[in-house]
Amino acid sequence: MSTTDEDSVQTTPPTNRLAWRDTNIYGSDTRDTLIGGLWASEGITNAYLYSMLEIICFFTNTFYLYDDRKQLVRKDGQQLRPGNYFVVTTGSISVTDEVPLICAVSLPSGPRVESFRESVFQRDRQCVITGNKAMYAHVGRWMGFEATHIFSLAFERQWNDRNLSRLITVPPANESHGSINSVQNGIMLTCEMHRFFASYELAINPDDNYKIVCFTADLSPFHIAGRHLDQTFIDNPLRPPDDLLRWHFRQAVLVNIKGVGEPTYEDDFPP
Ligand SMILES: *[C@@H]1O[C@H](CO)[C@@H](O)[C@H](O)[C@H]1NC(C)=O
Ligand SMILES: *[C@@H]1O[C@H](CO)[C@@H](O)[C@H](O)[C@H]1NC(C)=O
Repeated sequence: MSTTDEDSVQTTPPTNRLAWRDTNIYGSDTRDTLIGGLWASEGITNAYLYSMLEIICFFTNTFYLYDDRKQLVRKDGQQLRPGNYFVVTTGSISVTDEVPLICAVSLPSGPRVESFRESVFQRDRQCVITGNKAMYAHVGRWMGFEATHIFSLAFERQWNDRNLSRLITVPPANESHGSINSVQNGIMLTCEMHRFFASYELAINPDDNYKIVCFTADLSPFHIAGRHLDQTFIDNPLRPPDDLLRWHFRQAVLVNIKGVGEPTYEDDFPP
């Protein structure tokens, strides 16, 4: 694929996400219907299990979760224990057919992206997830960092269809670059974090004080799971709006938790 502004769409054979799960969610205590599952990463609480189920399922009535020991799981801030959980409800459950927007991780290029990168780098000057600083930012050297689109540039058509420019209050310096390239649709990450974020293995939950939520054990060595973004970043009026982070978090839940999970893709970096 040529180096245009588009991310390329990958076609390598996919695998599912069962391999790294330690927690399963079933539709009833007979456990014959797997609704989904996850890896109970640090920072994922009992309340998350409820709210994530509300993303992947529709319920016609109130529902409760019970654990292996047939104990009610309270909707609280306790760390989720790995294991089996099942839903109890007098209503019915249906799993959403909402499909997340997935693309292979690649580094787009072109003049539109150059000015996007510059504005994101100037705002953040460090990885907003790990806190790693760009040591030579003052001379414009950003080796090892990426400006990551929250809503991928590969989906500019969907961005436009959904009128997401309404979330943007600071257009890019050159408005012909499109609102998707606003600094408000970007965060600065290390190259490694860029891959995890763009493949939805990592997300930020704006409804839990910007907690970093990890969906795979691969992220354990970084000690970021369950941490919160820096307050200075949260206070910055140029940072991404909550609705964009919420959209990304929702994709991550659909990708990782629903059913057996979406296929995983190898990274695809253009030569
Ligand atoms: C998007 O905005 C256009 C023009 O403002 C409007 O006609 C259209 O209904 C909007 N679409 C959605 C999905 O909100
Ligand atoms: C804005 O971007 C367009 C497309 O990249 C380019 O043709 C135009 O020269 C740019 N305008 C300015 C003022 O830089």
